[in-house]
Amino acid sequence: MQDHQINNDLLAFLKTSPTPYHATDNIKNMLIKQGFIVLHETDSWIIKPNTGYIVIRHSSSIIAFTTGDMQFEKQGFRMIGAHTDSPCLKIRPHADYIKNQAIQLGVEVYGGALLSPWFDRDLSIAGQITWHQNNQIYQTLIDFKEPIAIIPSLAIHLDSTQNHARSINPQQHILPILNTQSTHLNDTYLTFSDTILFLLKEQAINIPKNTQLAYDLSLYDTQPAACIGLTQAFIASARLDNLVSCFIGTRALLDTMHESNPCLLACYDHEEVGSVSASGAQSPFLSQILERLLPDPQAKIQAIQRSLFISSDNAHAIHPNFPEKHDAAHAPVINQGLVIKINANQRYATSPESHAYFKNLCDTHDIPTQYFTARADQSCGSTIGPITAAELGIRTIDIGIPTYAMHSIREIAGTHDIIYLLKAFHQFYKTPATQLTLHTSS
Ligand code: CO
Repeated sequence: MQDHQINNDLLAFLKTSPTPYHATDNIKNMLIKQGFIVLHETDSWIIKPNTGYIVIRHSSSIIAFTTGDMQFEKQGFRMIGAHTDSPCLKIRPHADYIKNQAIQLGVEVYGGALLSPWFDRDLSIAGQITWHQNNQIYQTLIDFKEPIAIIPSLAIHLDSTQNHARSINPQQHILPILNTQSTHLNDTYLTFSDTILFLLKEQAINIPKNTQLAYDLSLYDTQPAACIGLTQAFIASARLDNLVSCFIGTRALLDTMHESNPCLLACYDHEEVGSVSASGAQSPFLSQILERLLPDPQAKIQAIQRSLFISSDNAHAIHPNFPEKHDAAHAPVINQGLVIKINANQRYATSPESHAYFKNLCDTHDIPTQYFTARADQSCGSTIGPITAAELGIRTIDIGIPTYAMHSIREIAGTHDIIYLLKAFHQFYKTPATQLTLHTSS
């Protein structure tokens, strides 16, 4: 496949994945199209060799795997992990706020969002709606698609200190505005719930008025993802952290699905809030799947110890306007290759063994690599890598593509690095078991 085609497909994926629910649904559909089979956790499973399977938990975490020749305890799994969620603004259950004749939405900040870029954007709303009807629980995805909300900046004239001392209070300053009260009163949709019911009706879903809606809805920027820069060296979009890894992981799994090696992709929700949930990386989701594939506890441990987990998540690129924020010798540059993340305090799970394996894989296939370690006087972020390593006892490496403006509503990564990531994932999924084995010299 052509490099520009991959980046174009990624743009389409980003555009149609405004929430973890939509991303999960899109990953599922990509896999089903190529013959993957959906397994339900509530069923008993019959697993066949040379087949691809999908398991979804709570609609926003997805694990897909190929069985190869089913010699799991001898072959181990080549696993790639990523996350489907990104920092955003989520809508409160009592959403309707009216202040100074503006119709606003009550919101909470999800994860470590960079708030200032949320101002003056044409925002829409998407997510999942759940309701109870005729003694059944129903769920559907929803996406308003149109720009229906905005968080206006305060004019410079009203606070001239803003360019050097702006602080944003998340309770007061970031409530999006939907409408003016005078125009709203003429409308038939008086509450936010009414507006949702109207949109669902357009999708042929009829829910009686006054039904209690339970939802997980977030705001997103309607400006679509784009390749930008003088030579289109950059991709600009919301949610690059970490939908790039989700999409490229899915592509790699599809491209190598006929290999005899068992391979696995895990895309989890809730990484941005610590991964502690029933479907996050710290849940028993992955472990329980392995248990079903390997009911014998000894065989399960053998399979895990022969496996390797690549935790793929974006890395901080050195910013030319703020170079002092990086350790000069470990400062990744955009389009200069994949970043191997190392941390002395295990905030990244890279071990000498996983590091040696991955570095060799990239060197052998002409994939450039660079290193990131945080400044010693600065706290270091973390990923699902250490969590997965701690839960399963699996060899793990933390890698990612260099990114500017992480957790902004518009992040920037390199179009060349995206191709390197796909190349590395291809080679990883093709790695025979012999090359994953550690030989100790004594
Ligand atoms: Co991330």
